[in-house]
Amino acid sequence: MADTGRELFEHELRDIYDAEHKLINALEKMANDASDDQLTQAFTEHRQVTQQQVGRLEKVFELIDRAPRREPCAGINGLIEEYREFNKEENPSDEVRDVFATGAASKVEAYEICSYKSLIKLATQLGLNEAVTLFQESLREEEETLREVEQMSEILGKKLS
Ligand SMILES: [Fe+2]
Repeated sequence: MADTGRELFEHELRDIYDAEHKLINALEKMANDASDDQLTQAFTEHRQVTQQQVGRLEKVFELIDRAPRREPCAGINGLIEEYREFNKEENPSDEVRDVFATGAASKVEAYEICSYKSLIKLATQLGLNEAVTLFQESLREEEETLREVEQMSEILGKKLS
């Protein structure tokens, strides 16, 4: 039974730790799938950023004296599954696939932004100030990525018939 803020914090930490790992793989696939060069580059860059975010989460595990552990993140699983299904079932044109991918990436970023915001709240309550700083860095990166993919969505969307 989880009945403390600390337990909830650890659960949320393991959840985002799993999500970031899954995204490293998903972003590689999305970069390969994209036909627009800028979009491929954006996904490739965010994949590198995601690797750094995994490193920050490992630092947080260290700060709380816990071994890094992943808890299957059903939310991100669902979003990745949606992306795969659409491409498999609908056989989209390159242009449609690219715009779809920007939307899928926005959904992922929105999920991650909410996760980091809750972690920041919980860590603040628990007095884990170093963890708060680490989460804030990742939150800033996720917010920047969201802005970037939204912009790309608008640009690429205009090319659709
Ligand atoms: Fe991330």
